[in-house]
Amino acid sequence: MSFDPTLLRQQFPILSLTANSHDLVYLDNAATTQKPYCVLNAIMDYYQTSNANVHRGAHFLSDKATNRFEQARSNLARFINALTDSHIIWSKGATEAINIVAYGIEGQLKAGDEILISSLEHHANLVPWQQLARRYWGDITNFTFWPVHVDRPLNLLLDSMPLKSHDQMAS
Ligand SMILES: Cc1ncc(COP(=O)(O)O)c(C=O)c1O
Repeated sequence: MSFDPTLLRQQFPILSLTANSHDLVYLDNAATTQKPYCVLNAIMDYYQTSNANVHRGAHFLSDKATNRFEQARSNLARFINALTDSHIIWSKGATEAINIVAYGIEGQLKAGDEILISSLEHHANLVPWQQLARRYWGDITNFTFWPVHVDRPLNLLLDSMPLKSHDQMAS
């Protein structure tokens, strides 16, 4: 089956808008994704039939909301081939998710470790690591910002990475 962008666009009601006299084109998906009808319908259905406290209520609707919430976790685990449902941890966005990881590994840091971030990273993958360095070492001396080198087809040239040992690489 060939890819038909028109059919795909039709699934997103917001893409029927025009912007500056052109069909709307939207590329800022890392910040906020637009929602297709199936997602909008599922959200509407949830609020019309199931909305209640998840994991914090002992009544009919709370049970229903909790089941749907956990079903979504299972569906996603299968979709990305996760080992178990418990490997899926919801977060509000990239910054929050990376902060969870940064706080999670804080206890494993030791003297001599360093944090290396490439200059390709978005703010969401920069600030949590700078803050971890400040919390752990009191400053960002052990935090290195690597001005990424790439070759012509845009492969990262990892050998130019200013790390003492590539074995130390955690993130
Ligand atoms: C490349 C990229 N990554 C991540 C994010 C968003 O991070 P968060 O989900 O924390 O808002 C953005 C938002 O603008 C982005 O453009």
